[in-house]
Amino acid sequence: MSDNYKESFEKTKKAGEIAAGALDEVAKIIKPGIQTDEIDKLCYEYINDNGAYSAPLFYRGFPKSCCTSTNHIVCHGIPSDKTLKDGDIVNVDVTALKDGWHGDTSRTYEIGEVSVKAKKLIKTTFDAMMKAIKIIKEDVFLGDIGATIQNHVEAEGFSVVQDFCGHGIGRHFHQEPNVLHYGKKGTGERIKAGMIFTIEPMINFGKYETKTLNDGWTAVTKDKSLSAQFEHTIGVTKDGYEIFTLSKQQ
Ligand code: MF3
Ligand code: CO
Ligand code: CO
Repeated sequence: MSDNYKESFEKTKKAGEIAAGALDEVAKIIKPGIQTDEIDKLCYEYINDNGAYSAPLFYRGFPKSCCTSTNHIVCHGIPSDKTLKDGDIVNVDVTALKDGWHGDTSRTYEIGEVSVKAKKLIKTTFDAMMKAIKIIKEDVFLGDIGATIQNHVEAEGFSVVQDFCGHGIGRHFHQEPNVLHYGKKGTGERIKAGMIFTIEPMINFGKYETKTLNDGWTAVTKDKSLSAQFEHTIGVTKDGYEIFTLSKQQ
């Protein structure tokens, strides 16, 4: 690895492992009957216990340590006393800030027994993210990443949210470039070795449009259809990529 980005990769990996570890802990407790606030508390404590800080807490006024986005909530759901019930799907999104560097990751969990259509949406979302990650290496176009996700998702009959995107990440939580989850091959910026960004597609069962609720955060599908999301933080190398937010348990 080039000395130019050795430090940023190592530090992002440390932050990313803590974020992934928090999601592994969530997997152990998440079930029908728990409140999303309990997930928030667990994430706060796990990240703190590992010598890091929960980046969402107070970020632009966000009140909690993670986002919990249930069913038709696309992203930025705020943990509360809301109880999860059998058949729900919920995305938990955590970001650890460790030693000045961020690691950002999310997974969509199934609560109890979920519908066949919810399972298919979740699988398609995960597969689209992984398919896009696998094409990453120096000089690939950002548009190739978006097109890979869009093609995979639309072939299954689902739609890609356009109002939110992946992002560069490092010393800042959100920085250049914007990583769109839709687009055309051969368009946009060419990615370079040493770049670090997230891929975090939000995929809707119905139409792609979203709206934000009066709390200023919670984004929902306009047609109230289900929405799923996964997110990894990735570093670009000359010949490929490194995923910094892999679970040790998966
Ligand atoms: N973790 C989210 C992302 O993937 C951002 C959450 S911002 C917050 O970019 F303020 F809502 F936490
Ligand atoms: Co992100
Ligand atoms: Co995130």
